[in-house]
Amino acid sequence: MAETTPVFPNHIAIIMDGNGRWATKRGMSRLDGHLAGFNTIHDIVRYLGEIEQVKYATFYAFSTENWNRPEAEIKSIFNILNESIAHEAAELHENNVRILWLGRAEGLPPKLVQNINDAVSLTSRNSGMTLALALNYGGRQEITDTLKRIVAEGVPAELIDEKLIAKYLYTADMPDVDLLIRTADELRISNFLLWQLAYAEFYFTPELWPDFNRADMDKAIRAYRERKRRFGGL
Ligand code: IPE
Ligand code: IPE
Ligand code: MG
Repeated sequence: MAETTPVFPNHIAIIMDGNGRWATKRGMSRLDGHLAGFNTIHDIVRYLGEIEQVKYATFYAFSTENWNRPEAEIKSIFNILNESIAHEAAELHENNVRILWLGRAEGLPPKLVQNINDAVSLTSRNSGMTLALALNYGGRQEITDTLKRIVAEGVPAELIDEKLIAKYLYTADMPDVDLLIRTADELRISNFLLWQLAYAEFYFTPELWPDFNRADMDKAIRAYRERKRRFGGL
């Protein structure tokens, strides 16, 4: 494939980092930081909905490694999600947004699992933007689950190729990521979408997630549009 100048990213994935630092800087609790972070998700999702060319957005809300945090913080993250999801889903449904969940149910509060599944089924027939929530998500766990399912279904080795693997991932219905954004000045992917990021463009910003706004999103998209995507070609 020849060098291409990308138009708009079709799929944007975001590692929302810096909620804790944002709160600490203000003498607030980490819980307040997560609350502020969820308000940012609300606004950025609406904004991406307005940018019609962006068809897929994935938000990293809780990693499988985040179980290493104190129980009280984990609970507060789940509470915020649990309390907002039904209301958010209803509003997104009105805007024709389809919600997907990437991650494992194992370990999550059953009520939260039920609420997310309800949001997914409520919006499953929508044809607008796809919003994927990576919650209790780990890239290596996803690949592990994928292999287990392929083996469990008895798929013959000669039928296994990249296309088939992609169909068994949590992201079966989604294209690869075009643009990965990570906030809060951390330069790593922290076990996020290992397969799907194979050819993504990376954009790192020092902005802490609760401060990330529409203008920052524009800046990230502008940076993406200036990249040259070669996919191994010239
Ligand atoms: C990101 O913010 C949110 C989650 C990982 C749930 P952090 O909570 O990691 O914020 P910092 O990195 O401590 O500032
Ligand atoms: C990555 O952020 C996970 C999420 C944003 C949900 P972390 O703050 O957990 O990542 P590390 O620990 O700094 O790599
Ligand atoms: Mg962090």
